[in-house]
Amino acid sequence: MAGSFGLGISTADDPVDWDALTRYATEVMQRAYAPYSKYKVGVAGLVDDGRVVLGCNVENAAYGVALCAECGMVSALHATGGGRLRAVACVDGQGRPLMPCGRCRQLLWENGGPTMELLTARGVVTMDQVLPAAFDSSDLDAAADGSSGPDAPDQENPA
Ligand code: THU
Repeated sequence: MAGSFGLGISTADDPVDWDALTRYATEVMQRAYAPYSKYKVGVAGLVDDGRVVLGCNVENAAYGVALCAECGMVSALHATGGGRLRAVACVDGQGRPLMPCGRCRQLLWENGGPTMELLTARGVVTMDQVLPAAFDSSDLDAAADGSSGPDAPDQENPA
C-alpha cells in the first residue's frame, strides 16, 4: 500500500532496527519537494503492527502552507490502516537525525504517546522527554468533566 511497507515481523518486544528506519527516512527524504527552503526532510515511523510509514516535506509557493515530513507520515499512518507509532527516525538532507518542530512533536504525541521513541543526534529519547507536559485528549476529557478549563464552575461564586 502506498506510503507503508513492512520492516519485517516485529512485535512490541523486538528491538527497534534504527539503521533500517534511518535508511528508509533517508530514501524518502530524496523525494521531498523543498524548492524554497532547499531543506529536505524525510521521516520513517515503525507502527506497532510492524508496518513502516513514510513522509517527506512538501513546500508551496505560499510558504506558510508547507507540509512537514511528519504530517505526510501521520497521514500515511491513518491511510494505511492506523495503529500507534512505536519508533520514529526523522532526517535532514544529509541523512542526519533532525529534531521535529513543535507542531510535529504534537502530531507524534497524538499518534505515539509518551513512550514513542525518537532517534536524535544524542541518541534515542522518548516523547515525554521531547514534549514534556503535553496537551492531549485527556485535557479535553477533563474539560468535559467540568474538572478544569474555562468552563469549570467558579468555586467562590457557583452559579
Ligand atoms: N520541516 C519538516 O519537514 N519537519 C520538521 O520537523 C521541521 C521542518 C520542513 C518544513 C520546511 O519545508 C523545511 O523543513 C524548512 O523548515
